[in-house]
Amino acid sequence: ELGEHRHYMHKEIFEQPQAVIDTLEGRITQEHVLVSSFGHQAEALFESIERVQIIACGTSYHSGMVARYWFEDIIGMPCQVEVASEYRYRNPVIQNNTLFVTISQSGETADTLAALQQVKKLKSKKNIPTLTICNVAESSLTRESDLTFLTHAGPEIGVASTKAFTTQLVALALLMTSVGKVKKMMSVKRETIIVKGLQKLPGLVKNALAHEDTIKEIAQSFADKQNALFLGRGTMYPIAMEGALKLKEISYIHAEAYPAGELKHGPLALIDENIPVIAIAPHDDLLEKLKSNLQEVKARGGQMIVFEDEMSNISSESGFRVVKTTTNVGRITAPITFNIALQLLSYHVALIKGTDVDQPRNLAKSVTVE
Ligand code: M6R
Repeated sequence: ELGEHRHYMHKEIFEQPQAVIDTLEGRITQEHVLVSSFGHQAEALFESIERVQIIACGTSYHSGMVARYWFEDIIGMPCQVEVASEYRYRNPVIQNNTLFVTISQSGETADTLAALQQVKKLKSKKNIPTLTICNVAESSLTRESDLTFLTHAGPEIGVASTKAFTTQLVALALLMTSVGKVKKMMSVKRETIIVKGLQKLPGLVKNALAHEDTIKEIAQSFADKQNALFLGRGTMYPIAMEGALKLKEISYIHAEAYPAGELKHGPLALIDENIPVIAIAPHDDLLEKLKSNLQEVKARGGQMIVFEDEMSNISSESGFRVVKTTTNVGRITAPITFNIALQLLSYHVALIKGTDVDQPRNLAKSVTVE
């Protein structure tokens, strides 16, 4: 079943171009999103909402974090994201006309399900349509939600979530675009730009995968490391969080993610030659600010590994290990593409550390108990 791959995680990483194709199939036309792919009531329900609340755990929470940037930046709709285990116990205030979105690979995560059930109790009083973005058709979350959008990632066996995350981001991009379209918060031109970008995504993912050998070599330098710091800004902050989660989960290296602008507020004190710092540096509005953050790390002897696109031009600055991960990509496709490189990094570090990649210690694939 593994074919040429040593582990399910590796197989699943390389299945991602196809998983993206399968998740887009039947959900877009050449130029438009098909709102009805969220269900036949979707258009009416989206019409009625004014904000979005996303709830999930682990990797699925990180995809929600990326989507928050998209919802607020691209269509100007308020969007909040929270981990289910906190949300369910803190008596949150949920406003009328909120689209309540759960994200889950398994559809069985106990905390996410409990958060949904709690919100459903308020439904008689308020307009709170529920949507789940889920990879398992017959699951508790799909049964309990008004709307279901299935990510067509196929079965994910490795405990570390890879292709589920990528397809969740595709689903969330389609959701943001659909809501924007129905609410007239997005122009037809922008909708088409997003759709065209998504059509290019399988190719972009494939190109990122082609950097495996370079990333494998970089992974060698983690052999004797106990800590790592991931930095990003904007949508790359949640991608840094996901990179850190993946590294700690399968290689047991303590990894933390920080929004690069927070460095001076504490984490800079950690920096010395023993801590690799991984930065995600797309060519965007925050690149110059990120570059000065990176200089601060370099000045303190930190070992920098930078994932950039072809326009970022960090390669010219000496002292950094730079991986030109991708061509210049858009706001939707960039976080998805950069994450692929981080998945490969964790995988190869785990191989060097000799851990059980598909079944890391102490973890279960589906967390069905608290
Ligand atoms: O099935 P779910 O997406 O609800 O699972 C949520 C988390 O348990 C899951 O993403 C976990 O963090 C992964 N092992 C991360 O790789």
